[in-house]
Amino acid sequence: ARDLSVPVIAAGGVMDGDGIAAALALGAAGAQMGTAFAACPESAADAAYRAALSGVEAGRTRVSAAISGRPARGVENAFMRRADETKIAAYPYAYDLGKALNAAAKAKGDNGYAPHWAGQGAPLGRALPASELVAMLERETREAIAGLSALNR
Ligand SMILES: Cc1cc2nc3c(=O)[nH]c(=O)nc-3n(C[C@H](O)[C@H](O)[C@H](O)COP(=O)(O)O)c2cc1C
Repeated sequence: ARDLSVPVIAAGGVMDGDGIAAALALGAAGAQMGTAFAACPESAADAAYRAALSGVEAGRTRVSAAISGRPARGVENAFMRRADETKIAAYPYAYDLGKALNAAAKAKGDNGYAPHWAGQGAPLGRALPASELVAMLERETREAIAGLSALNR
């Protein structure tokens, strides 16, 4: 019989070794992480994005089409709330308009129109250099897997 299995990469809200171990325990071949690396010093995130990731608002993310014209998750901001009351242009027009709006707002010191993309695990983010974060994730994953294995003894 032909092998129809495909490797599954788990994604979305994975922020630490416990999350990676859980994904692997559920049968995933690997885990992919985005937000977990957004606050690393190597990322291109500006000061406002970093502040949004480290503040209480990191726990308030939502899916909105306001910023690009396509649904994506980010830290809730004024742009998303305003878009609730109006029509959103089609992609990619909305994205160009959103970038222009953000540039104009940012020039006036208003960061409420910036795309602060983030997943639902954002509050669990750690602002470590990427290499340290990866080493920590590996350590945590090994520990979590050892913990799961202990349950089977
Ligand atoms: C730097 C960055 C850029 C993103 N860009 C997009 C994007 O262009 N389109 C989109 O649908 N989602 C985008 N996302 C948001 C994802 O909807 C969301 O973060 C992801 O699905 C959740 O996985 P995570 O918890 O590992 O970040 C982006 C996220 C990050 C961190």
